[in-house]
Amino acid sequence: MTEIGCMNLIVTTAFDPSPQMEIAAQDAAQILEAPLIQRKRISLAKIRHDYALHNILVITRDGPLIHTPNGEFFFHVSMGELRIKNLADGKHDHMVAAMQLRSGMSVLDCTAGLATDALVASYVTGETGAVTGLESSPIIAFMIGWGLQNFCHPSEQITQAARRVRLKNADYAEFLATMPNRCFDIVYFDPMFRHPNYRSSQLNPMRDLADNRSIDPQVLREACRIARQRVVVKEGSGSKEFQRLGITDIIGGKYSRIAFGVIELGG
Ligand SMILES: C[S@@+](CC[C@H](N)C(=O)[O-])C[C@H]1O[C@@H](n2cnc3c(N)ncnc32)[C@H](O)[C@@H]1O
Repeated sequence: MTEIGCMNLIVTTAFDPSPQMEIAAQDAAQILEAPLIQRKRISLAKIRHDYALHNILVITRDGPLIHTPNGEFFFHVSMGELRIKNLADGKHDHMVAAMQLRSGMSVLDCTAGLATDALVASYVTGETGAVTGLESSPIIAFMIGWGLQNFCHPSEQITQAARRVRLKNADYAEFLATMPNRCFDIVYFDPMFRHPNYRSSQLNPMRDLADNRSIDPQVLREACRIARQRVVVKEGSGSKEFQRLGITDIIGGKYSRIAFGVIELGG
């Protein structure tokens, strides 16, 4: 397990926990190597004050939820659901277009985060494709791994797309170094932006828990060794990261806040 985001966390349950919630809290505390406390009827404010910790992972009846200083962090599919609906309606998705993603393809998502992109990729690649997501923050990997395996959407297609994502708590540099040449069609990176948009970002609650490092050029070379078709990097439009990484093929909507750098590897 990596150290990222592991400090500053305590685990408890909601009020009046069921035996299953107690067990889930014990498991979470063990996996995340975090202290576990009996909730009794203690307020979260008092826990935060008494233990001088910022993040409180609460096992609720609906699953794990983290109270962070920047808001509540839990697994949800809201943006993924919208994007999948748009795709089903024949609309454009910038990421899918940048990847030239089709049914049956394999994708390595090196920066899984909330797994929204991984979910969309899994929907498009379908049952014959494969999506592997890497997440170096143990806390984020725990939360998102739980969500991908347990949440149920009214659309069975979305639920199944989530179940198919293989999520690993791993650092992409370490993972890539172990992989053979040309073993995924697409290798994808969506690092934490150098200049985050705090106003509208769904990522705000997970910002303190995330791995904020930028992509090392050596990692990008490894990604090019492993990808069969293309390496795709998402960044804020106008980001200097593309220049730093030597990526010149950049696509994105004229009015979009995001852009995708593409390195073609020629199938
Ligand atoms: C901007 S978020 C990705 C959002 C994601 N594309 C989505 O659709 O929800 C970036 C994520 O990459 C993770 N990350 C950053 N560096 C990493 C690394 N070296 N290995 C694995 N994950 C990493 C961060 O912890 C964070 O959760």
